[in-house]
Amino acid sequence: MPTKPRLGIILASIREGRRGEAFARWIHSLFVERAEFEAELLDLKEWPLPGYSSADPPASPKAVAPEGTLLRKWADKIDSLDAVVVVTPEYNHGYPGALKCAIDQIYKQWNHKPIAFVSYGGFAAGARASEQLRQVAVELRMVPVRDEVNLALMGLAVDDKGWPTEPIHTKRAHSMMTDLLWWTHVTREGRANHPR
Ligand SMILES: Cc1cc2nc3c(=O)[nH]c(=O)nc-3n(C[C@H](O)[C@H](O)[C@H](O)COP(=O)(O)O)c2cc1C
Repeated sequence: MPTKPRLGIILASIREGRRGEAFARWIHSLFVERAEFEAELLDLKEWPLPGYSSADPPASPKAVAPEGTLLRKWADKIDSLDAVVVVTPEYNHGYPGALKCAIDQIYKQWNHKPIAFVSYGGFAAGARASEQLRQVAVELRMVPVRDEVNLALMGLAVDDKGWPTEPIHTKRAHSMMTDLLWWTHVTREGRANHPR
């Protein structure tokens, strides 16, 4: 019996008073309910990775961070995952800089894994941020899954934990999770049996 796939839910906002933490906890709770993944929250506040500054590009075999550094721990953490969900706000029609810093530091650890999105923001519900991330994901040799959750903050119905309460959001979350699980099985098999 294969082990449950491992999922990292990356919380991209590091802002004081961020809305994103509640959304990340909400989506995490839905994954825990379905029990298909070992799901953990990766809060970028706890992973303060700086902008990329090394002479060696992350794809280079020389670019291995020394043992014990935050970067090495981040690389090992992402390496251990089978799938990723990013919970991202929209900042100036893009995604937060903290997320880009965390992405660019490593390369092969992202490769051939699926990635899904929960975005939020104003009228566009963060979709411009998730669309940009789809382009980045392809460059990382990841598989961005079709279905995603987009939360428009104005008038968004939430409970006392800040979790969305409208059934449409939960429905879309489940479509996303089903799609992500399928791609997780396919890519896990691919990485194990067709290495490249
Ligand atoms: C620097 C900054 C830029 C923003 N730009 C946009 C934007 O372009 N589009 C949008 O829909 N919302 C924008 N917003 C509103 C955010 O989506 C909203 O404040 C959201 O709560 C931010 O997520 P967070 O609270 O988890 O940090 C911006 C907010 C900030 C702080």
